[in-house]
Amino acid sequence: MHTIGTGKLALLPALYALQALAKTCTLKPLGRGRSDVSQIEAAIGECGHGGTTVFQPGEYNITRKMHWDLANSHVDLHGSLNFVFDLPYWMDPASTYRVIFIQSQASWFVISGHDFTLDAHGTGGIIGNGQNWWSWYGNATRLDGDGRPVSLTLSNVTRGTVRNFKVEAPPFWCNAVADSRDVVYDGMTCVAENADERWFGQNIVWNTDGIDTYRSDNITMVNWDITSGDDCLAIKGNSTNIFARNITCRGGTGIAFGSLGQYAELPDYVENVVLEDITLIRPDPQVQPLLEHGVYLKTWTNTRIGFPPTGGGAGGGRVSGVVARNVKVDQVTTPIQLYQTNLGHPGDAPSKLQFANLTFENWTGTAQTSTIVDLECSSAAPCTDVTFREINVTVPSGEAPAYTCVNVASSAGLPSGACTGDGAVKM
Ligand SMILES: *[C@@H]1O[C@H](CO)[C@@H](O)[C@H](O)[C@H]1NC(C)=O
Ligand SMILES: *[C@@H]1O[C@H](CO)[C@@H](O)[C@H](O)[C@H]1NC(C)=O
Ligand SMILES: *[C@@H]1O[C@H](CO)[C@@H](O)[C@H](O)[C@H]1NC(C)=O
Ligand SMILES: *[C@@H]1O[C@H](CO)[C@@H](O)[C@H](O)[C@H]1NC(C)=O
Ligand SMILES: *[C@@H]1O[C@H](CO)[C@@H](O)[C@H](O)[C@H]1NC(C)=O
Ligand SMILES: *[C@@H]1O[C@H](CO)[C@@H](O)[C@H](O)[C@H]1NC(C)=O
Ligand SMILES: *[C@@H]1O[C@H](CO)[C@@H](O)[C@H](O)[C@H]1NC(C)=O
Ligand SMILES: *[C@@H]1O[C@H](CO)[C@@H](O)[C@H](O)[C@H]1NC(C)=O
Ligand SMILES: *[C@@H]1O[C@H](CO)[C@@H](O)[C@H](O)[C@H]1NC(C)=O
Repeated sequence: MHTIGTGKLALLPALYALQALAKTCTLKPLGRGRSDVSQIEAAIGECGHGGTTVFQPGEYNITRKMHWDLANSHVDLHGSLNFVFDLPYWMDPASTYRVIFIQSQASWFVISGHDFTLDAHGTGGIIGNGQNWWSWYGNATRLDGDGRPVSLTLSNVTRGTVRNFKVEAPPFWCNAVADSRDVVYDGMTCVAENADERWFGQNIVWNTDGIDTYRSDNITMVNWDITSGDDCLAIKGNSTNIFARNITCRGGTGIAFGSLGQYAELPDYVENVVLEDITLIRPDPQVQPLLEHGVYLKTWTNTRIGFPPTGGGAGGGRVSGVVARNVKVDQVTTPIQLYQTNLGHPGDAPSKLQFANLTFENWTGTAQTSTIVDLECSSAAPCTDVTFREINVTVPSGEAPAYTCVNVASSAGLPSGACTGDGAVKM
């Protein structure tokens, strides 16, 4: 005998959906030398689709790679995911994911999915134990794609938000976002700061990029604070509609576009990147000796030498619609630079990757050298429509500001005669 009428039956799916939405999984660190990965995977498996997962404060012991697939889901990460220092383990290719195509980069923690928020509330995030990695690599060769893991990887994400997240001591890139769209990062702190006195005054935190964006569209980054020995942000191939606002970069090489053109068979398109309210600060040189650029753009040449992940070149494509405004630099080496000879050799064919419509506006602060702008575009693809407004960076006293423009087909806004003069191409 059926006691439920058809009308009530029709409501059942909706009720289940509501029940699923209400589902909450709560975790606390197991402690006592145990791994937390299994309980985390179980919680995400149960509540990661249509539920809430709450990590109570404390340190979670992460002993192996993790992948979270989240959908219509909320994660409150009040505690930290502590990725154990075990270099030989993590460097075994089987111990990491390879979801980032470019340079076959490795990831120990990947999030995919759609319509989720990961909120670390300013108290949680990742402990990368990077000091051990940096000290280990202080006198060892670092290669792209060598297996050092990215700390937080978003891969194949649609409409995801990461909030108030901190990565303490990333061994390699702090963040990567690849094959994703409509992502917001609001509040991100990455700290790669060497404290090993054997290496004071040297940069041993290479490759600790704040983020690399790749094959992704509509990515917003606001309220970031990045201490790094490499790129603060790196905009790589097929990044479109990228918005970064209120970003502080402490040390490193600056905000990068590239390197582009590494894959001969895969052109890189970068379109509509707006960077605003950017502050670059030079740290104590004992801690971090570099603050190389404000913003710089770079491509490989058009001669392919070797193959990715470490070699390559001859890739084409186009970068257009770049705006970098309200930028404050502090004793930066070269505020604005563009070159198309990354890892190149004399006699290489000139890059065919085209830069167009670049705007630099409202720059203040100080530079350590007199060259404020150094644009070295390719003879095979001269830069077009480069606009400067209110570039007011102070150079060392007694020196005159200098501007280098090579193969710039059209520019505006630099002191008269400083660049090529609009329309001219200097070879
Ligand atoms: C993490 O878990 C591993 C494996 O159980 C254990 O050997 C290690 O002591 C734990 N670490 C911490 C800090 O609890
Ligand atoms: C990307 O995610 C969607 C769902 O969000 C899924 O259907 C698709 O299979 C995923 N693609 C890959 C390559 O994993
Ligand atoms: C780096 O040098 C230190 C001190 O000489 C040594 O202890 C360490 O093993 C070296 N590391 C590598 C990876 O060679
Ligand atoms: C970009 O992503 C944000 C956050 O998901 C979303 O609100 C916005 O609608 C997206 N913009 C476009 C043009 O799709
Ligand atoms: C800028 O971001 C920092 C975090 O890096 C935050 O403390 C500050 O409040 C933000 N400023 C504004 C104006 O939102
Ligand atoms: C970028 O996107 C274009 C299609 O718009 C594609 O042909 C090209 O291979 C992509 N490049 C990379 C590096 O994925
Ligand atoms: C130049 O780039 C900006 C930013 O993407 C865009 O708003 C503008 O329309 C572009 N101008 C042209 C002429 O394409
Ligand atoms: C120029 O940039 C500074 C931040 O570096 C900002 O405070 C100021 O409002 C900007 N000026 C204009 C006209 O936008
Ligand atoms: C440029 O900076 C100097 C020194 O900070 C200041 O005196 C001057 O007013 C600034 N000029 C413009 C146009 O912002």
